[in-house]
Amino acid sequence: MVYVIHQHDVIIIGGGLTGLQAAISLADSGINCAIISKVHPLRSHSVAAQGGMNASLGNVQGEDGTEDSWESHAFDTVKGSDYLADQDAVELMCREASRTVIELEHMGTVWSRLENGKIAQRPFGGAGFPRTCYASDRTGHNILNTLYEQAVDREIPFYEEFFVTSLITKDQLCTGCTALEIKTGKIHGFNAKAVLMATGGFGRIFNKSTNALINTGDGQALSLCAGAPLNDMEFVQFHPTTLYGNNILISEGARGEGGILLNNKNERFMEFYAPNSVDLAPRDVVARSIEQEIIEGRGFDGGYVHLDLRHLGADRIMERLPGIRQISMDFAGVDPINEPIPVQPGQHYSMGGIDVDINGATNIKGLYAAGECACISVHGANRLGGNSLLETVVFGRLVAEKIIDDVQKIKPTHEPVSTPESVNPHDSVSTPEPVKMAMHEVDNKIEDMLQRKGKENLFNIKDMMTRTMSDKFGISRDQEKMLKGLADIKDIQEKISNVSIQNKDRKFNQALIHFLEIEGMLLLAETIALGAIAREESRGSHKRIDYPERNDLKFLKHTQVELRDNKIHISYKDVNMGIFEPKERVY
Ligand code: FUM
Repeated sequence: MVYVIHQHDVIIIGGGLTGLQAAISLADSGINCAIISKVHPLRSHSVAAQGGMNASLGNVQGEDGTEDSWESHAFDTVKGSDYLADQDAVELMCREASRTVIELEHMGTVWSRLENGKIAQRPFGGAGFPRTCYASDRTGHNILNTLYEQAVDREIPFYEEFFVTSLITKDQLCTGCTALEIKTGKIHGFNAKAVLMATGGFGRIFNKSTNALINTGDGQALSLCAGAPLNDMEFVQFHPTTLYGNNILISEGARGEGGILLNNKNERFMEFYAPNSVDLAPRDVVARSIEQEIIEGRGFDGGYVHLDLRHLGADRIMERLPGIRQISMDFAGVDPINEPIPVQPGQHYSMGGIDVDINGATNIKGLYAAGECACISVHGANRLGGNSLLETVVFGRLVAEKIIDDVQKIKPTHEPVSTPESVNPHDSVSTPEPVKMAMHEVDNKIEDMLQRKGKENLFNIKDMMTRTMSDKFGISRDQEKMLKGLADIKDIQEKISNVSIQNKDRKFNQALIHFLEIEGMLLLAETIALGAIAREESRGSHKRIDYPERNDLKFLKHTQVELRDNKIHISYKDVNMGIFEPKERVY
């Protein structure tokens, strides 16, 4: 086996919106950067974002005729976060929002329009104004294609279908990463002055999720193993409306357009739980309310409620929600023009992630993170719909600007190579160059995995993990259930060392890739469990039946987990407060 070594100033891991935006900003500053992605960038999960991107453009006035502002956006975001968001980061994001929407338009994003030609904005959950800019109900698809085109235009190199296997770190300095080229099974080494983690979420740790199968939290697990802490992992968002049966996202945009939730008595039950915001309360509130209706017997058999769009009329549904209609017809056999859509809550987003400062820098020099894999933290304990797309593009750009500053100060650790360098692994053992040593370690690890002869089946393990996480760490949690869940996760971690991979070939070995993913997911599952057990309060998405109140005195803090000596350690970190004092959330 021959190793291949590459050299770039900056390596971006992840080809979704954050990664592409960062690459564009870096390339525009003349920085030599490249993107590594385990899928083709246009298959990144950003493509699935439906509803839109928040920005206080003020194109649609509020109900009382007032105009939106970045301050209102910031207030809604902090209140939605149950006061756990870092307010300096929220302010930055909300101030940058309008500029970001306009820049995307200039690059080619086809935003939906109002009659007067301005960019259309619709109401979304927890927002005081119609603030969400959208491209029909295919906003992520639209923006991803825009940014991909821009990246291609700049001739940014893509290493696509490469699975990153380790970060190269020594003495708290990151100098690159290793990756497995899926097609050939070759190991590649990447020397860089900076690495940006932009790998998205970990939704597939749960069994009912809107996330793509690729959302396995690889970036969070790699960073944790390299010595970067993760924050707030217990805050997992459950989207209220996912299609019953397969949990495909049914956009909040459907309720933004006027869709309503109904129980089996045909009651608009959100009037009871959130008298002011009704169906457009924040996601944590709506998801809990649906769960409550189902528990109390007002759901439909199997555990779902109805999302009714019929009163919107065929024209509006076909213009504003064509994707939702298609999904409902194709995957549930229901045409929302004539029938309500069966929906239930499903895992959707991770508020927690890699601990970074407001510039996206981790505690490891040269390692940065942005987007869903990071915890910057603009979402705190509960994210508002429409703030995720915003975060990806705003912080993709801002973190890139910080990296540009930093890399210009770093001398190259290696002589630049214009073409990939191939090395013989035997040379690498005697040469103490970090990239070669890291490749050698990965090579040994993979060989070891392929040679194991245990009896466990990888897919049973994955199934046990996802069920445990959904059953024991779902919308409502309590200590007894969670302690059992943690014990189960520990058992499953033991079992994975007894898995044997049947396919021993390194080329296109999907079982090997799944194995690497699941190893990382089990580590993250443990961090979620430990954080959730330790947080003895209810805040945002973390609802404790045994601790139903928010406890600011003890828990107005970010949870932080670190891996030391193969053990996860928990500590707490202050929240960056600002002008918004914690209050009771009323919707
Ligand atoms: O419901 C949605 O369209 C999702 C939007 C989001 O997660 O921001």
